[in-house]
Amino acid sequence: MQAWVIGNWKQNPATRHDVNALLDNLLTEIDAKAQANTSLLGSHSDRHCQLMVAPSCIHLAEVSTRLKHSPVICAAQDISEHSANTGAYTGDCSAKQVADSGATWTLLGHSERRQYHSEAHDSLVKKLTHAFAQNLRVVFCIGETQAQYDNKQTLEVIDTQLSVIKDLMTQQPELVASLANRLIIAYEPVWAIGTGKVPTVEEVSKTHAHIKQTVAGFASTADNMTVLYGGSVNAENADSFAADAMIDGALVGGASLKAESFLAIANAFEQAHS
Ligand code: 13P
Repeated sequence: MQAWVIGNWKQNPATRHDVNALLDNLLTEIDAKAQANTSLLGSHSDRHCQLMVAPSCIHLAEVSTRLKHSPVICAAQDISEHSANTGAYTGDCSAKQVADSGATWTLLGHSERRQYHSEAHDSLVKKLTHAFAQNLRVVFCIGETQAQYDNKQTLEVIDTQLSVIKDLMTQQPELVASLANRLIIAYEPVWAIGTGKVPTVEEVSKTHAHIKQTVAGFASTADNMTVLYGGSVNAENADSFAADAMIDGALVGGASLKAESFLAIANAFEQAHS
């Protein structure tokens, strides 16, 4: 199974200049690795790890244009819940606008959106509907807080968050057949994001097995859903996550802002999946 390593740039970098510098580094390093044959990351036919980056929406068009002929896919970090198209929704960016910018994916349900923008079930069902209507593919983020982890509620919380997918399949059964192609789940424990704390690989592996089984229950075609781990993944710990068969890749925050660490993580998954 192909691995995925996705950089969530969040509200970074601050300027177009810095965005372009990061892209320069990323593309130069990918080219150099392909030339030196130290990694298969640069070669389309043999690649085992797909790379993706999700810049801030203000940089989306510029980044997707620059990545068009590269092995890196471009994603948005969010889309409007109110309309897939146009409307009087100040500050929002629709699925259609995102697709028109050249991005082909969007993140949805990131814990920072849930925390700072009160995103929850109904809003996420709408966002997924709009994304799929505009042929955007979705990285759907789920994960428990520290208190929920301490109370051993991880699987319960995840089941509640995944019921968004279940409801969508009930509302639009015609999506069942293509779900595995349209959707990736990213398991990101909130307490591991940006903290340097990580669950054990065994814990992540068990949770991913549960997620795969649960999603397969909503859509029989999605019998091996791609499930990524996110939360303090870095160049040092990527190997251990990559070695586990249940962990299909990583959603990376801080370490995706430097080409070197992002590609080291990608390389760990590339090697493990070769
Ligand atoms: P960090 O890798 O900085 O912990 O962030 C993870 C994350 O939130 C990716 O979406």
